[in-house]
Amino acid sequence: MAQNWTPSSWRQKPIKQVPAYPDQQALRDAEGRLSTYPPLVFAGEARRLKKHLANVAEGNAFLLQGGDCAESFAEHGADTIRDFFRAFLQMAVVLTYGAQLPVVKVGRIAGQFAKPRSSDNETQGDVELPSYRGDIINGIEFTPDARIPNPERQIMAYRQSAATLNLLRAFAMGGYANLENVHQWMLGFVKDSPQAERYRKLADRISETMEFMRAIGINADNQPSLRETDFFTSHEALLLGYEEALTRVDSTSGDWYATSGHMIWIGDRTRQVDHAHVEYCRGIKNPIGLKCGPSLQADDLLNLIDVLNPANEAGRLTLICRFGYDKVADHLPKLIRAVEREGRKVVWSCDPMHGNTITLNNYKTRPFERVLSEVESFFQIHRAEGSHPGGVHIEMTGNDVTECTGGARALSAENLQDRYHTHCDPRLNADQALELAFLLAERMKDGRDEKRMIAANG
Ligand code: TRP
Ligand code: MN
Repeated sequence: MAQNWTPSSWRQKPIKQVPAYPDQQALRDAEGRLSTYPPLVFAGEARRLKKHLANVAEGNAFLLQGGDCAESFAEHGADTIRDFFRAFLQMAVVLTYGAQLPVVKVGRIAGQFAKPRSSDNETQGDVELPSYRGDIINGIEFTPDARIPNPERQIMAYRQSAATLNLLRAFAMGGYANLENVHQWMLGFVKDSPQAERYRKLADRISETMEFMRAIGINADNQPSLRETDFFTSHEALLLGYEEALTRVDSTSGDWYATSGHMIWIGDRTRQVDHAHVEYCRGIKNPIGLKCGPSLQADDLLNLIDVLNPANEAGRLTLICRFGYDKVADHLPKLIRAVEREGRKVVWSCDPMHGNTITLNNYKTRPFERVLSEVESFFQIHRAEGSHPGGVHIEMTGNDVTECTGGARALSAENLQDRYHTHCDPRLNADQALELAFLLAERMKDGRDEKRMIAANG
């Protein structure tokens, strides 16, 4: 199948979700400039992530992937990035400590700008305009001007991604992620949060462990792994002209890599095996995600795996399952059985967000109980099938928003209006994200205990 792939071969294929740029020359011009700009990530980093993900595929690590549904140009402040990173680190530390497994950390960030839409147009009153497709394409304001796709936005998205990535690298490697800061990550965390007490206890235990290690000569000064963390970026590879412009040959291996982010994924609406998005992704060597929704049949999945991971390389392909809390039991077991029967190496990840979106009081929201329920089912099903529940993929923010109902603080439909800030889908707030992390850690621990028991009893 590896015939005639080039970074632009996707242009010969049928394609969905394409913005109608009125000025094609301006589009080519912007893409041309992008193709001369420096890569955002290096091939070696993508390879390292792939190794980490291979570890997940083999059952020896857990994948935490999360961030905004859509990043926005308007909210590009250091505080937003720091607050996200802090909430994400808190989740990671809960998972690492609770589950006693390495956690592979992948943000939906520094490139997550393009959105697939169910309809090309949006109507308000008697005005019809092109739908908002993400800040990399057009503006969210409901005006004719804002909604015209503008290629210059790709340049802005590239520059914003570079600045975000720069700050994230500094946080990850420059001291902020130091485990000696586990208590400091509490700052900014709402004091009356039900998760605060729970987190503080865990942070105490980690600090105690660090004290013990310090006493025996291991500390953050002499052990980089205590003060640094490997953090990777990801986004949906939806806008293929942008992706193509940032596709580069790695000089050490001669292979092509997407350099817009470490990992990219194919959406549930654009995963047709003979279409453009699959064509683009099959030719690059990055780790790839594939969103799997209720319409995906086991045979189609196997065909997609053949095309996207012909060498059956562990870590190359992550299946991000997004069925809905009431559908996961109908769909997931069939897919797991088919993949396991054929011996395909994949990471199984659970996206408990996208199948659980409802409308309440005119707000798109997600009941937190349903999010938890889909995660619980995902774990149970994998336990029953003997496969590894490898990770989660969530939409979250470090801020105290009111976008998903429920959680320990029991946000109601009436609360949604208070701090509903998302540009697209409703996100878990820092409180809800941490509550989810505690639940995950417990389930992973159960799985580990069970394995140990089986091993001990022969
Ligand atoms: N380097 C290890 C890791 O990334 C430990 C670690 C350092 C860590 N800082 C962290 C773990 C912050 C979670 C959160 O896993
Ligand atoms: Mn979304």
